[in-house]
Amino acid sequence: IAAEAAAKIAELTGVDHHDVALTLGSGWGRAAELIGETTHTIAATEVPGFSKPALEGHVGTLRSVLLPSGKRALVIGARTHYYEGHGVRRVVHSVRTAAATGVSVMILTNGAGGIKEHWTPGTPVLISDHINLTADSPLEGATFIDLTDLYSKRLRDLAHSIEPTLDEGVYCQFRGPHYETPAEVQMAKAIGGHIVGMSTALEAIAARQAGMEILGMSLITNLAAGIQQTPLSHGEVIEAGQAAEPVITRLLANIVAAL
Ligand code: 6GU
Repeated sequence: IAAEAAAKIAELTGVDHHDVALTLGSGWGRAAELIGETTHTIAATEVPGFSKPALEGHVGTLRSVLLPSGKRALVIGARTHYYEGHGVRRVVHSVRTAAATGVSVMILTNGAGGIKEHWTPGTPVLISDHINLTADSPLEGATFIDLTDLYSKRLRDLAHSIEPTLDEGVYCQFRGPHYETPAEVQMAKAIGGHIVGMSTALEAIAARQAGMEILGMSLITNLAAGIQQTPLSHGEVIEAGQAAEPVITRLLANIVAAL
């Protein structure tokens, strides 16, 4: 089905090869505008296996973007979250589709909660590794793939060369859709986590299986429950994303230009 989706994208855009793909999480939505010239915008619902996103702050489009270097980016603004309950295969469909269009570098972004107190809302953080707390996997059968260096050291070094002050952290994917309890956040911290969210880890596993190199970045939209003293709200998450947009959009554009 990923091959079918890739064929449909080629048919609708006339572009049969993409070099890099970006999945835009909350706060990252406008990044496509700065990385290059969008030549084609497709409603995700036109492509096999994609569904309309259920969520405000998520745009349901796929875009083909021509980079100044002449490379092609596939910008995925249509993420299916695990908590939507359609199963893990639907969650990783966009990543497998990207691979089927020829992509070799997969950039996964998200909006997430921070566990480190000095991460004020609007801070972008590189994902150095993850802890998958969904108790699920996109792989089936005897696919014992290695996840060492899942989030490419080469790409993290490249990001650091562009923004030396970028912090790194371990991303914990919870199932959601509720935010964590303070006790769960303390557990995440105790087991080595720094960022809590509801996406990315399952997608990264599928991306590695497909042979792509992965760059993961979180926008800290708020501190996690119990770290921040006030209750979390989805509105606050969206707002922090909007405020940080110019900075993270430029960061992402500079990284993509340097690939
Ligand atoms: Cl605190 N937790 C999770 N799981 N996702 C988030 C978040 C927190 N803040 C933004 N997204």
